[in-house]
Amino acid sequence: MNADEKRHLYSQTLAELQSVLAGIDDSITAMATSAAVLFSKIPYASWAGFYRVVAPRLLRVGPYQGGIGCLEIPFDRGVCGAAARLRETQVVADVNAFPGHIACDSAARSEIVVPIYTPGGDLVAVLDVDSHEPAAFDEIDREFLEKAASALRPCLADNARAWNA
Ligand code: SME
Repeated sequence: MNADEKRHLYSQTLAELQSVLAGIDDSITAMATSAAVLFSKIPYASWAGFYRVVAPRLLRVGPYQGGIGCLEIPFDRGVCGAAARLRETQVVADVNAFPGHIACDSAARSEIVVPIYTPGGDLVAVLDVDSHEPAAFDEIDREFLEKAASALRPCLADNARAWNA
């Protein structure tokens, strides 16, 4: 997929997400629907879903699509933990070169993880997308998945246990 095709795909996908999430203030509904949309629309995705902040410095799997994901990830482990700990999107071209990568799927080759905040700025979850293709994710993925994470923010207010990282 070339850059123009990827931008067009993401523009359509983002518009669909924004439309389907409009007025939703239920984090489970929003995350389940977003995981389904992203998994079905991103052709190189092998896993798409969320890890929620459930305690200080602890993530627990939320709604997702793909093979079984590990259930809990402390902030000091994995690509998801790095995104939560550093509050920065992680774009990983080769997961086997990422220190502490957690291999829920041994066939995963690249990954992107985007932190998600409540409207008040608390870290509430991370959005995780894996691929069986090496270096599948680039700055276009980062741009649009960060916009998708922003579209989710109003939907997550019910997550009363959002914790500061
Ligand atoms: N690879 C992630 C763990 C979650 S599985 O990809 C669904 C990590 O290293 O944090």
